[in-house]
Amino acid sequence: MKSLLFAANWKMHLGPGEARAYLKAFRARCPRRDGREVWFFPPAVSLEAAADAVRERADLLVGVQDVYWEPKGAYTGAISAPLAAQAGAKAALVGHSERRHVFGDTDEDTQKKLGAVLAAGVTPVLCVGETLAEREAGHTLAVVHRQLAAALGGLDGAKLGRVTVAYEPVWAIGTGRNATPQDAGVVQRAIRTWLTSHGAAVTRVLYGGSVSLTNIVELLAEPELDGVLVGGASLDAEGWAQLVQTPTG
Ligand code: PGA
Repeated sequence: MKSLLFAANWKMHLGPGEARAYLKAFRARCPRRDGREVWFFPPAVSLEAAADAVRERADLLVGVQDVYWEPKGAYTGAISAPLAAQAGAKAALVGHSERRHVFGDTDEDTQKKLGAVLAAGVTPVLCVGETLAEREAGHTLAVVHRQLAAALGGLDGAKLGRVTVAYEPVWAIGTGRNATPQDAGVVQRAIRTWLTSHGAAVTRVLYGGSVSLTNIVELLAEPELDGVLVGGASLDAEGWAQLVQTPTG
């Protein structure tokens, strides 16, 4: 049976107390199930509370939304991968579109962050995806290949096998417009091909962008999909528990 990953990106929501209450409610509504993993990406201030709240459940894991690439030093306001790991992060989002487009992270920054995450023994979830203008110009695969090569080029197969990639078209994030499962599948297949042709024996490719209870059934039916990365629809414990338990055909 294929294992499915459901990743919740809380973005700038849910402080420590709220994270604890959310995860208590989630655990009660969503019992462990073979072949399903759920990863939570709370804001950094809630990492420790969230990690504590999932300690008893091997199917639940906590990750950090972003890190700076230096391990430590005089970088006011920044969080390093080893510090996030100390607070309980086992995974890290890298190159999320809001980092790239709101905070100006470049491909080079993304590559340095990805290397730092791997070096800290944390699992990177690399986010890639095109803007609407890039899609309309027919550049989707070129953009995704450029982002993959920039962030992952130079890694050996063993390290590549530790990276989960999330295809998140920028125009679908938080807009209520999602890629069709077939359109997403084409890009996910291209990502998998890129990873295997560079030596990765294991590949995990997610889709993200306006995933919700209304489209999860058809998304999960797409064979290229190994899971989803979800923002808005992960903020309510009850709705998220329902989404994670979506039956597959
Ligand atoms: P969304 O966000 O589900 O709210 O579109 C997805 C993401 O940014 O990872």
